[in-house]
Amino acid sequence: MKRFLLLFFILAGAALAEEKSVRPGINTEYLKPDLDVKKWVARFEKPGREVFDHREKIMEALHLKRGQRVADVGAGTGLFTMLMADAVGPKGKVYAVDIAKDFVALIKKRATEANLKNIETVLCTERSVELPKDSIELAFTSDTYHHFEYPGSVVASIRQALRSGGELVVVDYRREPGKSSDWIVKHVRASQEEVAKEIEAAGFERVPATDFLKENYFMRFRKK
Ligand SMILES: C[S@@+](CC[C@H](N)C(=O)[O-])C[C@H]1O[C@@H](n2cnc3c(N)ncnc32)[C@H](O)[C@@H]1O
Repeated sequence: MKRFLLLFFILAGAALAEEKSVRPGINTEYLKPDLDVKKWVARFEKPGREVFDHREKIMEALHLKRGQRVADVGAGTGLFTMLMADAVGPKGKVYAVDIAKDFVALIKKRATEANLKNIETVLCTERSVELPKDSIELAFTSDTYHHFEYPGSVVASIRQALRSGGELVVVDYRREPGKSSDWIVKHVRASQEEVAKEIEAAGFERVPATDFLKENYFMRFRKK
């Protein structure tokens, strides 16, 4: 049995190393040198964007506890990082993880200005969140899953960073041709159920969560 498991992990690891981009170029805008972070703050933190309008409700639904260690994966301008830092308190920790160095620098500046010492920024790679093994109890992604070019590798790295029984929450656009806007249908590659299948295949089980958003969904998974 042990040998079989070892072989399984070796083969799975080899397959992930070979994983091809599912959406080449989707992050080009964020990876430009001298990113105009002000422009992105205005875009991500503006009324009318559903996750911004419902940010407090999203935070409540995360059920964060004081002292928890959590990650905001694809943290962007830090909209949720800052709220998560308040929720886990000074004894907790929020890793703000992103592939864009200018977003990471912006969050570092915001954390310093707000005197939030429980935020640690992490410049990750497109294939890995680069967090230590067993370092977090919850990973959160808002409007980011569809930006993962190598979702299999990224989700495997999140799974490794989660402690036993840790959770992954995914908030992302509903892709429902005929219902969703043309922009979403073009920009977002997978439906909610396809995303759920990918995450379950990576060693998670879906756990019940109230789906209270319209343009986006809110899904919760537990590490198996
Ligand atoms: C649309 S923005 C969302 C930002 C933020 N979560 C929010 O809702 O305001 C997507 C973010 O995901 C980041 N991103 C893309 N691929 C990533 C990856 N593999 N790992 C971590 N972050 C990634 C981008 O750099 C960008 O900051």
